[in-house]
Amino acid sequence: MLPALYVVVLVCLCGLAAGASHIPAYASLAGRSDEEIALFMRNHPTPGAQPPPPPIKDTSSKLVNDRLHPWLPLLPGQIRGVCPGLNTLASHGWLPRSGVATPGQIVTAVQEGFNMGSDLAQIVTYAAMLVDGNHLTNLLSIGAKSRLTGPDPPQPALVGGLNTHGVFEGDASLTRGDAFFGDNHSFNESLFDEIVATSQQFGGGKYNLTVAAEVRFNRLVASEQSNPEFFFGFPRFGTAYAEAAFPLTFFIGGPAEDNVPTNLNASLDLDVMKGFFRDSRMPKNFHRREGPLGLDIIGGALGFLSDAHPFPPGFNTGAGNYTIDQRAVDILTGNAEIDLLCALYLTFVNTTIELYPRPTGLLRKSIAVNLHNLYLPLVAVNDSAGCPEQFPFGKF
Ligand code: HEM
Ligand SMILES: *[C@@H]1O[C@H](CO)[C@@H](O)[C@H](O)[C@H]1NC(C)=O
Ligand SMILES: *[C@@H]1O[C@H](CO)[C@@H](O)[C@H](O)[C@H]1NC(C)=O
Ligand SMILES: *[C@@H]1O[C@H](CO)[C@@H](O)[C@H](O)[C@H]1NC(C)=O
Ligand SMILES: *[C@@H]1O[C@H](CO)[C@@H](O)[C@H](O)[C@H]1NC(C)=O
Ligand SMILES: *[C@@H]1O[C@H](CO)[C@@H](O)[C@H](O)[C@H]1NC(C)=O
Ligand SMILES: *[C@@H]1O[C@H](CO)[C@@H](O)[C@H](O)[C@H]1NC(C)=O
Ligand SMILES: *[C@@H]1O[C@H](CO)[C@@H](O)[C@H](O)[C@H]1NC(C)=O
Repeated sequence: MLPALYVVVLVCLCGLAAGASHIPAYASLAGRSDEEIALFMRNHPTPGAQPPPPPIKDTSSKLVNDRLHPWLPLLPGQIRGVCPGLNTLASHGWLPRSGVATPGQIVTAVQEGFNMGSDLAQIVTYAAMLVDGNHLTNLLSIGAKSRLTGPDPPQPALVGGLNTHGVFEGDASLTRGDAFFGDNHSFNESLFDEIVATSQQFGGGKYNLTVAAEVRFNRLVASEQSNPEFFFGFPRFGTAYAEAAFPLTFFIGGPAEDNVPTNLNASLDLDVMKGFFRDSRMPKNFHRREGPLGLDIIGGALGFLSDAHPFPPGFNTGAGNYTIDQRAVDILTGNAEIDLLCALYLTFVNTTIELYPRPTGLLRKSIAVNLHNLYLPLVAVNDSAGCPEQFPFGKF
């Protein structure tokens, strides 16, 4: 309990030190004036962006719900958010239990706790860091608001954190509602009950890829029919399928042959699944999967899901009035000069420019470094040839 309490106290003190600016150390600085940023810099340590940590060396399966990483209930002020993977790592102490971490800590923790491949870990983490994190303190919240955040800043400033709608968090999540309906981040019991019913119908009472494809499609149809602002273009198109597969790639654990994509028939117990999704809790004796799951092998699982029930990328203008995004379709079908990974990269480049039109000094340099950190895994999978690196904030 002590370390967690200590963190809460520290966060409290930071909040006070922020004084008149009211900006928590982890909040995004998008939309802030130069004066606010200068004041923020006087009141916080600002290490700025850092290079990503090296991949972990030992990627064997091992006990991760161990004596050093017990599940502990939430204390006031600790933040959890949209991602059951990160929530669970924080509630077991693989990430700071506060729910506020550096991107480097997140990249390492998803490898240590779940054996996510370092390339996939870097892409997802630095994409999130760019649009939801604080580039000066080098901190990202895995949720957003807490009692310590204070009142919301005026628009267009963002409270920041992964719960922020539109930049990364998106519509038609498995167990979270659409932002349009108010709460885009809390676990929704009736949505989980829908997963249970679908698992009974299509998975013999367990969550498997057949169930995942049905759930994924049902959620898309529900949002398309009811959410007048439903958005299913980039980047959401890329992340929505991955999230439906992640429970089967990471929450089963143990030998590779027990997990998707090595075994496309793998299935997940629903109580275990609910433990992760609702309680941020690993089952007793949980061993991380054998071997990393990275960009090279995730594709098979995503293809299974989208082929089972194709749903073209697009957006609503009014409930049920869906417009297909033809440019995105061309990218997905290989009829464009760039591929999906490059499109995701360029989307995050564009969003970052929109969020930070004229950054200066350390802020500008740190955004440039984090943009480079996002690009690094593309070089590693040799996607870089058809997807030149962008330098809208200069080279550092
Ligand atoms: C590498 C850093 C990661 C980041 C930055 C991240 C971020 C996110 C975000 C922003 C969402 C919300 C998207 C949405 O539904 O609108 C999400 C959902 C999700 N994430 Fe993560 N994630 C990460 C790693 C992981 C890992 C390692 C796992 C599994 C062990 C995981 C499992 C999930 C699942 C299952 C969902 C879907 C939740 C739902 O739809 O109800 N994530 N993640
Ligand atoms: C999404 O959740 C965040 C965090 O609670 C909240 O501030 C925001 O208003 C919600 N909706 C949208 C549209 O972002
Ligand atoms: C949970 O989701 C259901 C189905 O979309 C919705 O009707 C309900 O209002 C949500 N509950 C909460 C508490 O947001
Ligand atoms: C999955 O099950 C099907 C039918 O039972 C079988 O043909 C296939 O080989 C199995 N695939 C794997 C990877 O175990
Ligand atoms: C999911 O489980 C059902 C019921 O056992 C089975 O018919 C189906 O083939 C499974 N799907 C996969 C991909 O293994
Ligand atoms: C449907 O969407 C199209 C394209 O966005 C728009 O021009 C049209 O006005 C919308 N129709 C209705 C009834 O909202
Ligand atoms: C990014 O913005 C540029 C300039 O506005 C535009 O040409 C390009 O299509 C955008 N790319 C993506 C992937 O959104
Ligand atoms: C990687 O990209 C380089 C430069 O375009 C190319 O020469 C090389 O053949 C590629 N390697 C693979 C394995 O695709």
